[in-house]
Amino acid sequence: MDSKIVSIKIPRVASSYAITIGGGVLGDVGSWSIRALGRRAGRILIISNRKVFDLFGAVVDASLKKSGFETHIHLIGDGERFKNLRTLETTLRTLSEKGFTRTDAILALGGGVVGDLAGFAASTHLRGIGLLQIPTTLLSMIDSSVGGKTGVNTPFGKNLVGSFYQPNGVLIDVDTLKSLPKRELTAGFCEAIKQGAISGRPLFRKTARFLEAFKAGDLRNAEKYDLLADELTSLIRDQISFKAKIVQNDESESIANVSARSRKILNFGHTFAHALEKATKYRYLKHGEAVGYGIMFATALSKKLELIVQNEVDLLNDVVRCAGILPAIDNVDQSEILDSFKHDKKRVGNSLHWVLLRGIGKPIIVPDTEIPQSAVSSTLKTIFQK
Ligand code: NAD
Ligand code: GLY
Repeated sequence: MDSKIVSIKIPRVASSYAITIGGGVLGDVGSWSIRALGRRAGRILIISNRKVFDLFGAVVDASLKKSGFETHIHLIGDGERFKNLRTLETTLRTLSEKGFTRTDAILALGGGVVGDLAGFAASTHLRGIGLLQIPTTLLSMIDSSVGGKTGVNTPFGKNLVGSFYQPNGVLIDVDTLKSLPKRELTAGFCEAIKQGAISGRPLFRKTARFLEAFKAGDLRNAEKYDLLADELTSLIRDQISFKAKIVQNDESESIANVSARSRKILNFGHTFAHALEKATKYRYLKHGEAVGYGIMFATALSKKLELIVQNEVDLLNDVVRCAGILPAIDNVDQSEILDSFKHDKKRVGNSLHWVLLRGIGKPIIVPDTEIPQSAVSSTLKTIFQK
């Protein structure tokens, strides 16, 4: 051995943080932030969009100030198309102009778009500053705010630039869902069905039962909200627990891990979903709606490969329908979808890893080299005929 070559092992320290869930907890965000960040944190940049800030910004800002934080506000455009490098640049410029240091923090107030963008900004400014996630959509509560995936879209595809960066804390005020439009609830429930489908019967059944009682309703109806708030909180808690368990075992989605409990399984339905979002220029479908179609596509492909039985396919499709109406996709160019699979993040070397199902709660990762192209193309036709 060359005596000049020295090998030192640096152990990876998994970061832990608390996720606080409840009704009306937003008013205590100041003291919660001190607990999450520690007393040294001085300034907080609240990143949000106009719509969400108008709804909850004043409460958050007042509570932070009351707890002694100096607050600044940075609003970004509303929608998936603003989750890009240009918005990241303006955000990083704001952090530098305001002189944010490593003891300062970002607070993401909004849905997954705000959370992913703000998280990426927090991970890159000075190589990492504090991050608080306050998700205000169902999707961001059960999925995007937990697990530390941050990033932005590029002209080549979804989430192609990003980092793994865990927040210092996640605060979920379920009452913020009282203003969420119905379409956004449908989108969130599609991600909940995805997690149920890969997790196992108990979470799948709980999600399906909630959707049956909910009947694609609207939480903006106060009576409906009061009736279902406890069950909804319990469902959100179980959904997060499932995701947290997967993330804990495979925080940075190791390339080598292709087991049924690897983080990759959380991408169930996402290969088709990301292709659909890109083909519709991130303007037509909500991410969760695209995931709804993605679940149906991955399930149909699983059936085509004789991995799953028809009863389970029907059950999954029924539960997706229960989440609400998905916008029609008949105008989408199918060749663009096939082309997008080539740029998918889930590619490893030359092959794309599909997450498929051998049944509910039985995800399996299959490289596309093991899937005949004809099976993918004919499944695509079936989905577009629906
Ligand atoms: P979104 O952030 O676009 O929010 C949806 C809409 O709801 C927006 O118009 C927003 O302004 C509005 N809104 C937010 N909270 C509201 C409230 N309480 N009342 C009324 N309106 C409200 O969409 P989303 O579905 O939350 O997130 C989708 C994004 O999350 C996508 O970019 C997706 O890629 C990402 N995502 C990331 C992860 C991850 O692990 N990081 C996981 C899943 C999804
Ligand atoms: N939403 C997929 C993941 O967090 O891994």
